[in-house]
Amino acid sequence: MSSEFHRPVLVREVCEALTPALVRAEAPVFVDATCGGAGHTLAVLAAYAAARPDGPKLRAIALDRDEEALAEARQKVPADVELVHSSFRHLPAVLEAAGVAAATAILADLGVSSHQLDTGARGFSFQADAPLDMRMDPSRGMSASQLLADISVGELTRILRDYGEETDASRIATAIVAVRPTTTGVLAKVVAAAMSAPQRRKLGLRIHPATRTFQALRIRVNDELGELDALLSAAPERLQVGGRLGIITFHSLEDRATKQRFSALTRAEQPPPGLPIAARDLPQPRFVVPAGYRQGAAPGDAEVAANPRSRSSRLRVVERALP
Ligand SMILES: C[S@@+](CC[C@H](N)C(=O)[O-])C[C@H]1O[C@@H](n2cnc3c(N)ncnc32)[C@H](O)[C@@H]1O
Repeated sequence: MSSEFHRPVLVREVCEALTPALVRAEAPVFVDATCGGAGHTLAVLAAYAAARPDGPKLRAIALDRDEEALAEARQKVPADVELVHSSFRHLPAVLEAAGVAAATAILADLGVSSHQLDTGARGFSFQADAPLDMRMDPSRGMSASQLLADISVGELTRILRDYGEETDASRIATAIVAVRPTTTGVLAKVVAAAMSAPQRRKLGLRIHPATRTFQALRIRVNDELGELDALLSAAPERLQVGGRLGIITFHSLEDRATKQRFSALTRAEQPPPGLPIAARDLPQPRFVVPAGYRQGAAPGDAEVAANPRSRSSRLRVVERALP
């Protein structure tokens, strides 16, 4: 496998956000919930070693639902990094099996890797003609072509609109259901032919007409928002006090869900109206957004120029302040 497996985004920002928690801990545990090509895992290990050269050993557990990612990571990470084939939906069970009650830092870098997109046979891309699969974990679940085999126009319209923000959703869904494509090439052609002329003009030459349809189907096939919801519910409770959770989002649906969950976790209780209770006398929130992360961290111009895929990325961070 090549060194171009995946170029990680916001590496410096991830290290700056997570290392302070790791250096404070007596028995630090780092969980990379989306190992991919292990770029972030390696960077966090190096940042910890540099910040605390004589500190306790950092235990690292890295999971991915894609076995190709784990095979790539195995070649790159030290032998004592624990690689686990699992969806991060099952984070509590993974930690329990590893004998870890709570982690010091957890990272999730959402979405797909460049390797998944660029490997035509995985069926994620309209650049190649291949069976329409799109599963990050091809060992389970329903492929995109199985999904399209008996979906209704109404349900597909909803998927294209909600997950792809596709304004031509109904036209495109009607055309797809008439053909029920089983390959990426046919799907791309059907979408391009169905899209209205004004919509095509709006996208211009830079964006393929099928981009949003492919994104929407990928999100649905992999239940990406359901996975994220499960992680956002479980991960904060699996942090040690002083531990931090970082989530890198790539589109507004992921970012909105993360932002809303973090603001619910960190919201201070308000005194009941009419009662003589001061806000400071109420229980303090158990989670805080560390200083400087209120808006999250976004890539600088140099990173966007070097890695255009980073353009829409944003790192959001929350810290567990109290048991
Ligand atoms: C953007 S890449 C991560 C790249 C990685 N941070 C690196 O430095 O190479 C996303 C990875 O997360 C994995 N992934 C996505 N959703 C997942 C989930 N729910 N559970 C576990 N892994 C997931 C994908 O298979 C993919 O390998």
